[in-house]
Amino acid sequence: MAELDGIYRDAYAGEVTAERVGETVRLAGWVSRRRDHGGIVFIDLRDATGIVQAVIDPEQHAAAHQLKMEYVISAEGQIRKRPEGTENPDMATGQVEITVSELEILSTADTLPFMIDDRVDVEELIRLEYRYLDLRRPRMAANLRARSTALRAMREVLDERGFMEVDTPTLIRSTPEGARDMLVPSRLRKGSFYALPQSPQLFKQLLMVAGVDRYYQVARCYRDEDFRSDRQVEFTQLDVEGAFWGREGVFATFEAVIVEVVRLLRGSAPTIPFPRMTWKEVMDAYGTDKPDLRFGMQIHDLGAVFADSGFGVFSSVLAQGGSIKGINAGKQGLSRSGLDGLVERARQLGAKGLVWFIVEEAGLRSPVAKFLSEDERSGLIGEFGATEGDLLLLAADTPRTAAAVLGQLRIDLGAPQGHDELSFLWVTDFPVFEVGDGGTLTPAHHPFTAPLDVDEMRDTPETAISQSYDLVLNGSELGSGSVRIHDPSVQRQVFEILGITDEDAERRFGWFVKGLRFGTPPHAGFALGVDRLLALLQQERSIREVIPFPKTQTGLDPMSGSPTPVDDIQLEELGVELRPEVKAELGG
Ligand code: AMO
Ligand code: AMP
Repeated sequence: MAELDGIYRDAYAGEVTAERVGETVRLAGWVSRRRDHGGIVFIDLRDATGIVQAVIDPEQHAAAHQLKMEYVISAEGQIRKRPEGTENPDMATGQVEITVSELEILSTADTLPFMIDDRVDVEELIRLEYRYLDLRRPRMAANLRARSTALRAMREVLDERGFMEVDTPTLIRSTPEGARDMLVPSRLRKGSFYALPQSPQLFKQLLMVAGVDRYYQVARCYRDEDFRSDRQVEFTQLDVEGAFWGREGVFATFEAVIVEVVRLLRGSAPTIPFPRMTWKEVMDAYGTDKPDLRFGMQIHDLGAVFADSGFGVFSSVLAQGGSIKGINAGKQGLSRSGLDGLVERARQLGAKGLVWFIVEEAGLRSPVAKFLSEDERSGLIGEFGATEGDLLLLAADTPRTAAAVLGQLRIDLGAPQGHDELSFLWVTDFPVFEVGDGGTLTPAHHPFTAPLDVDEMRDTPETAISQSYDLVLNGSELGSGSVRIHDPSVQRQVFEILGITDEDAERRFGWFVKGLRFGTPPHAGFALGVDRLLALLQQERSIREVIPFPKTQTGLDPMSGSPTPVDDIQLEELGVELRPEVKAELGG
């Protein structure tokens, strides 16, 4: 603990333990609970380290009756053992109390909007409006501390390994990473805008050109995209890049970082190296590129079982080049309406339908069992090694849809609550491009990612594999990275395949590609989502719980009220004018 200078206190509440009985200490903190027994007042005094009970005699200290919740006080007193039978085993300091000999009120507090207590459920909007009170709650205080511990550990591990922290600008030229840019108008160059970085991607690559060997940064990134529980407009990455480096170096480095962070926050380190699977393998077996490997329930392809099926739904889907896939969801014990609910859920997820089978002693129970031959029924049971009570779910669709829908049902039905167990996974060999409707290609990672084979990328861009990788934890994407393109001509080819014209490429990325022409070392890197890692390690549902001052789901800061309209004069100086319909909406 920090050094105490003795002005307001000479001890911390959390350190007032039974070994110190008889000592006189001076504490400072907040009144977290107060019981007035007329003749005697008990308060719980809370500071950053813990809570201790203080006993005040109002005869000696008239101020005792004025004390209210969250008043700030400084109190001196002797530590004594609590009278027999009044000990509190739930409190670290529950064996003792201090008998107050001096009491000073340092600050008063208004009536609180909510209790400073983890057990009280408060609406998030109110919590965020009074975030400074919310952060006083023990759980939130622990999250703040965990964030500090994690960031320090990350820096220590990287410093030890020879990485150098370099900060890159937050007012930049737009760096495309798939989201919308946040823009900042320039006053000196009216009509021009800076963008806030979606990540330091191009700057860290140019640092490699600059001769930096190993770079890292705890970097704030900004993306104007739809909010979700694991997305904020402003978030933090542990961003890393290395020259003359490749995938193995990246993996070993991040495994070392994560081992240390998990050890500090969870008490025991995960096993390394983390398992690895290719993108193709995870898509086939789990229907998602971020599978939760804490449980099995893998997707099976049932094309062989139903190759000659007389069931129309199956035979027609197979004839059209589709596939029949299924999972064994185990013993779910669902009622008929529960099963109907699953079919409805599958439809909402985009499936044409879902067939369920329940394994019973007498055979398979299912609305479609009668359409299947004996061979198909036993083939199905055999494929899954199914036993009595198991629920089998089958979808016949395009291979992609069948896998995606079953992948989601697998999570609905199987994912453990909470995150006690941690299951890390490297997913490798993503495609270079994603094929959209109408065959449009967009980068699967970002356009600076190296293909495995340049010729393959040129000849069959739709299926070409890249040198990219993700880190997944319990079904969440924790981070992404890749080996980069270091040859400017390959970089140009990627832009070409993406349909970016030469002029457009020159205008948007010319400044960057120019840099690649001056002796670029082969390089690779990665960025870890710090907020996501912390949320999972702290068993929180949303990254908002581990960000000191987050925005709401709709991008508001209820505490300061941002974003807000600004004065006309501010806009005028920037050469910016609001559109009439926007002005009208603001009532101005
Ligand atoms: P990517 O865009 O995959 O890669 O981002 C890396 C990680 O950052 C986290 N993340 C977010 N966290 C909270 N809110 C968001 N809106 C958000 N967006 C992303 C995720 C994600 O895995 N420059 C590349 C990295 C590289 O190639 O080195 C990049 O930014 O955990
Ligand atoms: P239908 O002929 O549409 O009434 O479907 C008969 C059964 O097959 C129902 O249980 C449907 O949910 C199911 N089903 C229909 N289409 C599919 C499909 N593409 N994949 C899996 N099951 C389906």
